[in-house]
Amino acid sequence: MQTVRNRKTGKRGTKKLEVVQTVAALRARVHEWRMKGESVGLIPTMGALHDGHLALVKAALQNCDHAVATIFVNPTQFAPSEDFEAYPRDEADDIAKLDGLSTDLAFIPDVDEMYADGFSTSVSVSGLTDGLCGASRPHFFGGVATVVTKLLLQALPDRAYFGEKDYQQLQVVRRMARDLDIPVSIVGVPTVRETDGLAMSSRNWYLSPDERAVAPTFYKVLRDIAEEVGAGARCKSAIETGQATLADAGFSPIDYVAVCDADNLKPLDRVDRPARVLAAAHLGRTRLIDNVAAG
Ligand code: PAF
Repeated sequence: MQTVRNRKTGKRGTKKLEVVQTVAALRARVHEWRMKGESVGLIPTMGALHDGHLALVKAALQNCDHAVATIFVNPTQFAPSEDFEAYPRDEADDIAKLDGLSTDLAFIPDVDEMYADGFSTSVSVSGLTDGLCGASRPHFFGGVATVVTKLLLQALPDRAYFGEKDYQQLQVVRRMARDLDIPVSIVGVPTVRETDGLAMSSRNWYLSPDERAVAPTFYKVLRDIAEEVGAGARCKSAIETGQATLADAGFSPIDYVAVCDADNLKPLDRVDRPARVLAAAHLGRTRLIDNVAAG
């Protein structure tokens, strides 16, 4: 808990985090704020909060009267072979971090609250989800689009905050909110990095010390590709060099290294418009993803 200044009155006060588990309790609190004309920012997370998540909360608190963080490890975005069971969970630490930032509310539902018996609806976004992470994790974006739609409809926030680290996810959520006329502004927040460049991620917890020492190569390769294609090189040759560097450093398998249109994520031959260099690769049992702007 910390002293905070009210965005409208300028008065100082203290806010204590409220934790709710049910959609009804979330809706009741948000309704109360909206009746007073106060704005709400939503930060969907799967917990195991790090500074990247906290940057989303800070952005919400800067632009909204209230910040609501959700913590839900969403089973439908994991394939049976993936790390749903092992995914890091530390609710007490998450709550302490959110409280420390003066977050207003944490919504921490259990699986039954989100997926009632007989749940049979899903949201799918075509096209944007075909390549990149969609190719190596075909179940993933359906699970994300469905749970994010639910969270947006449950909380009805004015704004919802997502990290640019999951760039394809951000674009998918933007498209989904636009296509379904969900009245929310989707805000992308720049990736927060360790001092050696590694993008912060809850999955970094899986890295062994040796792997952690190698991991920053991933960001370096993306930056090198961005520099080359930004200077006019063909994407194909820059990508091949980058893939070879990653393989030499021990990344295997490499799911993809790509240079894509920053908006529709279609692969580019040369960078002649706003573009993104994106990659996903495995280092030991950890799958790293990252992206940087190019051009
Ligand atoms: O990025 C994440 O943590 C998750 O994919 C999200 C958006 C919270 C949906 O479960």
